[in-house]
Amino acid sequence: GMEPLVAAIDQGTSSTRFLVFNTETAQVISYHQVELKQHFPKEGWVEADPMEILQSVHECVEKTCQKLRQLNVDLPNIKAVGVTNQRETTLVWDKETGEPLYNAIVWLDLRTQSTVEKLISKTPGRSKNHLKDKTGLPISTYFSAVKLRWLLDNVAEIGEAVLSKRAMFGTVDSWIIWCLTGGRDGGVHITDVSNASRTMLFNIHTMDWDPDLCSFFDIPMEILPLVRSSSEIYGHMKSGSLAGVPISGCLGDQSAALVGQMCFQEGQAKNTYGTGCFLLLNTGTKPVISDHGLLTTVAYKLGKDKAACYALEGSVAIAGAVVRWLKDNMGIVQSSSEIEQLAAKAGTSYGCYFVPAFSGLYAPYWEPSARGIICGLTQFTNRNHLAFAALEAVCFQTREILDAMNQDSCIPLSVLGVDGGMTANRLLMQLQADILGIPVVRPAMSETTALGAAMAAGAAQGVDVWNLSPAHLPKVTSERFEPQINIEESEFRFARWKKAVQKAMNWET
Ligand code: G3P
Repeated sequence: GMEPLVAAIDQGTSSTRFLVFNTETAQVISYHQVELKQHFPKEGWVEADPMEILQSVHECVEKTCQKLRQLNVDLPNIKAVGVTNQRETTLVWDKETGEPLYNAIVWLDLRTQSTVEKLISKTPGRSKNHLKDKTGLPISTYFSAVKLRWLLDNVAEIGEAVLSKRAMFGTVDSWIIWCLTGGRDGGVHITDVSNASRTMLFNIHTMDWDPDLCSFFDIPMEILPLVRSSSEIYGHMKSGSLAGVPISGCLGDQSAALVGQMCFQEGQAKNTYGTGCFLLLNTGTKPVISDHGLLTTVAYKLGKDKAACYALEGSVAIAGAVVRWLKDNMGIVQSSSEIEQLAAKAGTSYGCYFVPAFSGLYAPYWEPSARGIICGLTQFTNRNHLAFAALEAVCFQTREILDAMNQDSCIPLSVLGVDGGMTANRLLMQLQADILGIPVVRPAMSETTALGAAMAAGAAQGVDVWNLSPAHLPKVTSERFEPQINIEESEFRFARWKKAVQKAMNWET
């Protein structure tokens, strides 16, 4: 057929995907997915190999193109490629050799805990919120600036590359786009406003890198990428089956999911259950600074001349990662999907509460020294209860975010749109509706993040195959989970959860 298609690269913490959508109904025509290795070289350290990330992207693109050829789809029908990515993860590479100078430091990594403490202690009020007005973020291990500081302090090759003007910094979007547009042979060194807003070097009001922020972290500005909108032609695919196709969309994965859920109106929100779990509320063209531990972030800017939209965000570090931990570290489940059966056998945690504070606690606490605990165990507790408690932890964490969001925005959310890999788990969806006390709505097409990146790419000026005005948005079918337990019951459990959180928080003191 002649219908234009748009593709997206979705480079997440745990896997890489490449998907091709039609622009009429936003259906997936074909896709390929590759799991990624995570490296844990020391306690609290989380790294990824930038070359493995790049290889996985090439592999996904080429395998998908093979599948399309088998389906007799003409590759020239693919009009644009969008990129969406795990945010904050920090890379530095050498622009002359094209080689990474260290592994990527993944967003979850805790090695900068002492760097963060030092930075906070040098602020006037010893406050982690010292940079919040400019950046929307608390000083935390989570964001790129502290990771980059660590790389400059600890990796000699990076210091040398900076001195000899060969160093390039980027989040995963920048790395992928630089490589795909030619790398050392003419690659473009860019990022978009949504990704830039997670570095802590970006001023969310001026919408540019901020010299004061860079001097606070002592970061040389010449290694930063150019900041562009989330939807414009940045360059073209240099090689492979899609050589010549424009790359015209770039969004952090949580922003892409917001777009993919079509939350373009102020007051619309979505929660994505991936490695972590991220609830974003569109606040329109005004940044809203939270009084309840949420982040203010640039949601998207869909075109050079379009206004930027902001979001309030509640970030939970550990969601799907707790299931992976039960599988890989504890051997309690054989596969991630098995957790639903175990939890269903138990039907309750029997008073067992599991706070998976593996990377400290993110929103609304921002407590890097918190550590995971499992409490309320008795002789009776078995692995089924533990599985249930792990799923319940994901739901309780989301409830804490929703409560904070309702307090910040005054208008309580009446329904929550959800997406991401974990939402295939029906028990989790029902549990989430029960614990929130509002309906949870899940789209039938679960690849919302990739869809958002494809939409941004297809709508770019000069591509123009996807119209994002309300009348043209594709209709999506979805499923609704209504709360079924009574309020007293859910409030009792939520109060117990909060007690468990207090124990996890005070772990190191
Ligand atoms: O901020 C980190 C986030 O972008 C990672 O997303 O889907 O890999 O959990 P995910």
